[in-house]
Amino acid sequence: MAKTVLVIGANRGLGLEFAKQYAADGYDVIATCRRPAEAAELRRVGVRIEALDTSTSSSIDSLAEKLKDDSIDVMICNAGVYGPRSDGLTDMPTEDFDLVMRTNVLGPLRLTLAFSDNVARARGAMVFMSSRMGSISTMSSDSGIAYRASKAALNAVVKAASLELGKKGVRVLALHPGWVRTDMGGPQASLTPTESVAGMRHVIDKASDLHGGLYDNTGALIPW
Ligand SMILES: NC(=O)c1ccc[n+]([C@@H]2O[C@H](COP(=O)([O-])OP(=O)(O)OC[C@H]3O[C@@H](n4cnc5c(N)ncnc54)[C@H](OP(=O)(O)O)[C@@H]3O)[C@@H](O)[C@H]2O)c1
Repeated sequence: MAKTVLVIGANRGLGLEFAKQYAADGYDVIATCRRPAEAAELRRVGVRIEALDTSTSSSIDSLAEKLKDDSIDVMICNAGVYGPRSDGLTDMPTEDFDLVMRTNVLGPLRLTLAFSDNVARARGAMVFMSSRMGSISTMSSDSGIAYRASKAALNAVVKAASLELGKKGVRVLALHPGWVRTDMGGPQASLTPTESVAGMRHVIDKASDLHGGLYDNTGALIPW
């Protein structure tokens, strides 16, 4: 039987590439996006598409209800925003900061709670797109402070989830995709989405001993 992957935030960037690669490998792909009617490129991949706004609990609840009897082998919690492109410590509108934290931290926490039983059923993996920018011990720049703070907070959620869900046989990983040419990464980034996602898929699907840490797209551990 084909394995099932749930890709959250799959209409562009890394999420779209995850959907393409898993579909090409024969997985049953459930791909989510905020506005399915506008997701033309995702529709061309030919996967099941579900509407989901990760910043709204009712949206998460209704997808969880729809999928309640499904087993999920891999959940990729990919949706994220960068927020204010700040340079140095600066103030910012409260709503800008809140949006980053709600999308990058509270959303993934709620998604963990909503889908952990589905993933536990398959003894599968929950994967969170974090960033090296959330690593406090390797930080050498103060740019994008809201994003950095949100990914550091996400890392704490991932660590907590790994402690709790590891007991149920669920692998929980935070991944840094590298610097990738997407809308968020920009045109100067060093990796294509194809290269980054191929590396991360190897980490997710083959390096089954990796759990409870932040790893890059080659599987190397990044210190918190
Ligand atoms: N690219 C890089 O170099 C890089 C480096 C480190 C980490 N990352 C992380 O990798 C992940 C993907 O990044 P990317 O480069 O592919 O970014 P991207 O091109 O900006 O795409 C972001 C995706 O997240 C979705 N999203 C944002 N807010 C959402 C919400 N509330 N509900 C549902 N979907 C939402 C977007 O959907 P809409 O189209 O509806 O906005 C889009 O599909 C992010 O978590 C990012 O922080 C990226």
